[in-house]
Amino acid sequence: MVKILAIGGSLRRGSFNKKLAKLAAAGAMKAGAQVTIVDLANYPLPLYNQDVEDESGLPENAKKLKKLFIDHDGFLFSSPEYNSSISGVFKNVIDWVSRPEDADPAPLIAFKGKIASIMSASPSYLGGLRGLVTLRSILSNINVLVLPEQLTIPHANKAFNESGQLIDPAKLGKAMQMGERLANFMKNTCAKGTSP
Ligand code: FNR
Repeated sequence: MVKILAIGGSLRRGSFNKKLAKLAAAGAMKAGAQVTIVDLANYPLPLYNQDVEDESGLPENAKKLKKLFIDHDGFLFSSPEYNSSISGVFKNVIDWVSRPEDADPAPLIAFKGKIASIMSASPSYLGGLRGLVTLRSILSNINVLVLPEQLTIPHANKAFNESGQLIDPAKLGKAMQMGERLANFMKNTCAKGTSP
């Protein structure tokens, strides 16, 4: 069974990106994947500082997140767009989780050879599209295979109902498809033994 980690790159309680990540996660579960949904608000982290790392290693929450990344084969990431890029919160998580530790068998152990689908939800009419260019670039550079298809939800402030569902059934279907397609792609590549 493929294991997928779903994360919305926001700390905000009502985060649209957390909601979107959850919907995609439901799609992946429907396709038979084992999915862990992580709320980054439960893993508070300091801003990355190499002095802190040199003096005391990775903070406990960075270690916990890194272990979660290592334990999963694929990622469903939904990132807010802040000033045309990804959120500082999400970049900070990627930075901490990318750091090597003595016990690591290889560099970038949490990312290398993993497969990701990326999404964004924003109140703007572009839905966070520009941030996804940056997210794709960051992940590709740390050896994550990012699937070509991506999803944006524009006008996100009006797109979700109170229970976190997308109101438009077509958009809801697309969100779930993101998870389903990632799970199916992973199943197929694992079955062929061609994992990147
Ligand atoms: C934003 N927002 C935003 N939206 C967008 O589409 N493009 C952008 O460049 C920005 N820039 C930006 C900068 C900063 C500092 C903030 C606080 C916000 C709006 C953003 O998409 C909105 O706050 C979302 O609701 C954030 O995502 P979550 O927390 O709902 O997941």
